[in-house]
Formats: sequence, structure tokens, C-alpha cells
Amino acid sequence: MKNNPVVPYILIFALGLGLIFFMSLYGIEQKNEIAGADEEGKTEETTDGAAAEDFDPDAFAHGQCIACHGGDLTGSPMAPSLVGTSLSQDELHDIIKNGKGATMPAFGGKISDDQIDQLSEYILSLK
Ligand code: HEC
Repeated sequence: MKNNPVVPYILIFALGLGLIFFMSLYGIEQKNEIAGADEEGKTEETTDGAAAEDFDPDAFAHGQCIACHGGDLTGSPMAPSLVGTSLSQDELHDIIKNGKGATMPAFGGKISDDQIDQLSEYILSLK
């Protein structure tokens, strides 16, 4: 093993791996610092609280609903329009939560009741 010519390469390789590891740790730390600097005093909430509080129904609908309900949610051959719906907020909530028919997915396990309410209000605001 003494004069094995591969050893230096293995050392360099290990060193490189270590460097990558430490740089990513450093990156995570910096990310937290940046997030914390934006909201002074709320540093604790930035990781877990963010998902619930920063829910953006407009962005969610454009991420999750347009594939079937059309790019502007006015319907497609696959699914009816959500714009100008005659459904009530409660009916919207129920359909989004539990799904409908064979293809309308249930979002109940994916987003909270509160977020479904925000989404229903958003759909009603589309009229
Ligand atoms: C995989 C395709 C698909 C996706 C994704 C989808 N839907 Fe649907 N949706 C449907 C279909 C199909 C129907 C019609 C079901 C029926 O009437 O049997 C429907 C029906 C609905 C209805 C009832 C409309 C009416 O007039 O009866 C609402 C409200 C609705 N979807 C909301 C949403 C929302 C909000 C999202 C995104 C969070 C979404 N859907 C994502 C396929 C989809």
C-alpha cells in the first residue's frame, strides 16, 4: 500500500467530498440567515409556519388545477370551468377536499381545511 499510486487520488477525492459537504452545510446556514433577516423576530416560524401562512391560492391553482381545468381555469375538454361557477363556497370546499367523479382528485390530504377555504374564496373571486 505504501507506494500505491492511487492513494493520492483517493485522498483528493475524499477531500473534495468533504469540501462539498461543508459547503452545503454552510449554504443551509446562510439560507436560514437570509430568511431570518427578512422577518426579524420570526426566525422560528420561517421553516414550519411558512407553508401554512404563505399559502397562495392563485399560485396553488396555477400549479395544481390548470392541467385539467385549463390555463385560465375557464375549463378544458377534460374538466369544467371554475370561473363563474354556480357552486357555493361550501360546495367548492367539499369538492376540492373530497374530489368528484372519476378524475377530479381529492386535495383533502394535501392541503389544510383553511387552505381549501382560501382556494374556494379565490375561485369565487374569479367571476
Ligand atoms: C386530473 C384532472 C383534474 C385536476 C388536476 C383538478 N380537477 Fe377539478 N375536476 C376535474 C374533473 C374531470 C371535474 C368534473 C367532475 C365531475 O363533474 O364528475 C372536476 C370538477 C371540479 C369542480 C366542480 C366543478 C363543477 O362545476 O361541478 C371543482 C370546484 C374543481 N374541480 C376544482 C378543482 C381545483 C380547485 C383544482 C386544483 C386544486 C382541481 N379541480 C384540479 C378534474 C381535475
